[in-house]
Amino acid sequence: MSSEVISREVKRRRTFAIISHPDAGKSTMTEALALHAHMISEAGAVHGKGSRRATVSDWMEMEKARGISVTSTALQFNYTPEASTSDVPNVINLVDTPGHSDFSEDTYRVLTAVDAAVMLIDAAKGLEPQTLKLFQVCRHRGIPVITVINKWDRPGQTPLELIDEISERIGLIPTPLYVPVGIAGDYRGLLDRRTGEYIHFERTAGGAKIAPEILLNADEAAQREGDAWTAAQEESELLSELGQDHDQEMFLAGQTSPMIFTSAMLNFGVRQLLDALVEFAPPPRSRETVDGTEREVTDAFSAVVFKVQAGMDTSHRDRLAYMRIVSGEFERGMVVTHAQTGKPFATKYAQAVFGRDRSTVDNAFPGDVVGLVNAMALAPGDTLFIDPKVQYPPIPSFAPEHFSALRVTTADKYKQFRKAVDQMDAEGVVQVLRNDIRGDASPVMAAVGPMQFEVVTARMKAEFKVDTIVEPLGYSIARRTDEASAPELNRQRGVEVFTRSDGAILALFSDKWRLQYIEKEHPDLLLEPLVAAA
Ligand code: G4P
Repeated sequence: MSSEVISREVKRRRTFAIISHPDAGKSTMTEALALHAHMISEAGAVHGKGSRRATVSDWMEMEKARGISVTSTALQFNYTPEASTSDVPNVINLVDTPGHSDFSEDTYRVLTAVDAAVMLIDAAKGLEPQTLKLFQVCRHRGIPVITVINKWDRPGQTPLELIDEISERIGLIPTPLYVPVGIAGDYRGLLDRRTGEYIHFERTAGGAKIAPEILLNADEAAQREGDAWTAAQEESELLSELGQDHDQEMFLAGQTSPMIFTSAMLNFGVRQLLDALVEFAPPPRSRETVDGTEREVTDAFSAVVFKVQAGMDTSHRDRLAYMRIVSGEFERGMVVTHAQTGKPFATKYAQAVFGRDRSTVDNAFPGDVVGLVNAMALAPGDTLFIDPKVQYPPIPSFAPEHFSALRVTTADKYKQFRKAVDQMDAEGVVQVLRNDIRGDASPVMAAVGPMQFEVVTARMKAEFKVDTIVEPLGYSIARRTDEASAPELNRQRGVEVFTRSDGAILALFSDKWRLQYIEKEHPDLLLEPLVAAA
């Protein structure tokens, strides 16, 4: 494949994730995007009549029981922006951050596979904890963020309150592309700040269809909306006076964030979001390799595995690894090399994955996400390539906040148990910590989200036929320490020292007060924060 073709494919691609707190409307927005891309003809499968539970990818019984999705999937669709003059559509990849109240390692890892993020905020609630955590990861990784204020059809804060909250709390300056006409709870349309025009939205029955838009000039808008239009114009002017207009360089540098007001439920503002993604979000770029060089998108094929998941299909045990393509063209059937082992990997069964429906992928380009079946040897962070050889830096481990001891309940399964623990460790399902006191029979699992422990026990049983019990430990904070500090730390109440499988020495603390006390009493001890998620 010529590099011009790859270059053209790359240019039209946008790969992003939605970062949000549970209930902000991520599923509803995903569906609204699919509706606008004409992937579905009617919305409602997700947010209507409780049928959502059947459409999410539920790969384990546990998920079904909870009615949530723990795993990431990738959704790809074509989209042609309203203003486009090209007859070639854009290709949008939406990488799903695993759903819901469980905040896990996978939620973070997805962000290593995207080029931009949409920060979805509930207009009434403002910034919420999980959004903040994920935003910090984006900032750390230099991922530009588009801000969406959702549920504008419901009472909430004013635009200026939300803008202030975001700039004050996280130092990100919102630059609204549009100002809503009508307060939260009375969403009539948007003032396009660049053209000064008014986009009025019409409701459709049950919000099932794309909301028809009526475009009016300022005079017509003033006549139609009266004070609501004047208020929007004043807000827009104020923002311009404050310098809060979109600036592409500052956006890409992570300093500003284009902002859009939406109602995912009514499909208001959704087209504007898609258009902004195409216009402003960066296409896939070159990536830095372990030796500090860059692999260009037009170079030979390479990809990074960012997520491995097992047991999707209960009828046959399989393991699916998701890779994000970094360079070159991927063709199904290609034999690639696994950089970590140097072994060949046949890609006969490559799949694009959306929910339960698996469709076969024949070729893919940088920015695309492809699922590889039977990927027993692949772990998150691994590199696959076609010569010349390349290896990308590993995905860093995340600062865990939950710690549990794991024990096997049947003594004769001990060997299997060890094998299973090593497997979970290698896959990055949990981090595995050990110390002499607990011994090998009771390793400690550390995770970002407590549901990872359930994933471990369920997989231990399904794949290794090992019954285990999980005992939550009373620790909530980990710090990196060293051999010299370990004995003193072990003498302290509410502290325990472990060695992680990568050799790092970690001290666990019951709570932050305990940690603060020890830091004060023993300033000579090494206690380094773990990177939240680099
Ligand atoms: P999540 O994936 O981020 O957790 O959120 P989800 O889309 O499931 O939405 C959470 C709730 O918020 C849902 O209501 C959904 O209908 C509602 N919602 C999402 N976007 C909007 C919006 O723009 N406006 C309004 N008014 N509501 C919105 P629910 O009652 O929990 O579920 P359901 O009965 O609608 O399925």
